Amino acid sequence: MQGQPSRTTSQPLEMVDALTITDHRTGAQHRLEIQDETIRALQLRPIKVREEDFGLMAYDPGYTNTASCRSAITYIDGERGILSHRGYGIEELAEFSHHEEVAWLLLEGELPTEAELASFRREIAENYQPPGWMVDLFRSFPRESTPMFMIQAALAALGAAFPDSLEVHDPAVRRRHIMRLFGMTPALVALAFRRSRDFAPVEADPSLSYAGNFLRMMLGKPGEAYQPEPALERAMDALLVVHADHEQNCSAAVVRSVGSSEANAYSAVSGGAGALFGPLHGGANQAVLEMLDRIGSTEAIPGFLESCKKGEQRLMGFGHRVYKSYDPRARIIHNLAEKVFEVTGVNPHLAIARELERTALEDDYFISRKLFPNVDFYSGLIYDAMGFETGMFTPFFATGRMIGWLAHWNEMHHDPERRIARPRQIYTGPGPRDYPKAD
Ligand code: CMC
Repeated sequence: MQGQPSRTTSQPLEMVDALTITDHRTGAQHRLEIQDETIRALQLRPIKVREEDFGLMAYDPGYTNTASCRSAITYIDGERGILSHRGYGIEELAEFSHHEEVAWLLLEGELPTEAELASFRREIAENYQPPGWMVDLFRSFPRESTPMFMIQAALAALGAAFPDSLEVHDPAVRRRHIMRLFGMTPALVALAFRRSRDFAPVEADPSLSYAGNFLRMMLGKPGEAYQPEPALERAMDALLVVHADHEQNCSAAVVRSVGSSEANAYSAVSGGAGALFGPLHGGANQAVLEMLDRIGSTEAIPGFLESCKKGEQRLMGFGHRVYKSYDPRARIIHNLAEKVFEVTGVNPHLAIARELERTALEDDYFISRKLFPNVDFYSGLIYDAMGFETGMFTPFFATGRMIGWLAHWNEMHHDPERRIARPRQIYTGPGPRDYPKAD
């Protein structure tokens, strides 16, 4: 983790970093080995008062200080606002890479060569089109359904088309289903969008880029050629890149948790989509736009912020568990928004968003808690300017994040220390008592 070398087997024990704990209940001292600036929680277990005791546990609601795995995919330094994938900064990836290249990077560990990228793109495009019966699945939903409900269900349902996906121990099988899920996700999201507008589905065009085909399947007409507007295709591509992964965020942790039971990739990412749906995670982009609508004018900002400070509501799109400085993704998306607005016209909410950010960043409540704009603060303004309704914002986040989920799911299978995810609890219920039997 934080650049600390691991202990080599030749290193003598006394040279190993360690922590000595004095248990003041017993006076006993316990030596805990430190590796990668981390102690293993199981080293606490022998710390007990009586031999028959269970032993000490670590209590960490929300896993605020618990590492659950080793991962080589994404690095975040929240204090300094740094995000990188496999060592490459998100700023450069968003500027110079297409989503397909970032997908390869997350899965394979290196940027692709030209030849690798060309064949990877072909492989993805071969998977753009989901099975025909998926259209019926989407039709079976009421038209007014929130798209994320449909998408979560569709991701799990897609697994039914590919029963061999249950063979999760076979790397070739895993890879095949990673490609299917990655290739087909834009189509599932487009089907949800078209269901909500009662539009007929549009078939995939394998000649288009991942972002271009995504726009076609949403905005094109059945049977007609579609050429995406280059600036919007580039913006969608960059938005997918910016959302591609974020290490052990709530949804990726869920994907790993579901996958740890050796469930297939479809079930795992469907679980991840459920976690992303919530307003504290990927649902925040939708909540931001709804909040800007409610605020309505820059004059109303001070009153709105006062109510956030009283704890009556949250400033959506602000704050992050890991970032204690500006989220680098928010800066990229803010700059991207200006390019999109040159094509679509400026989003009328932009002035409120900017003034809201400016006022919050000067306010001691937000300064002292290190609350800054996060990835969701400006992304909704772009989707809104492109003409999408708020219910589609979280599905767009899911489309970008799909490859991160899949990379974590796959990496987990290579981890020799992986075990089924199964946290402990502190039991607070009643002790043993007699069952009330009828007299
Ligand atoms: N507005 C007002 N106060 C806030 C906010 C906010 N957005 N976020 C945190 N706080 C306050 C919170 O009330 C607490 O204050 P106090 O110490 O006085 O009790 C303090 O800051 C620490 O907050 P926390 O809830 O303990 O922090 P957390 O790490 O558990 O939560 C968070 C992180 C992202 C859930 C939270 O900041 C939040 O709810 N933000 C708004 C929702 C949002 O934008 N989510 C998207 C996150 S980024 C993309 C993603 O993950 O999908």
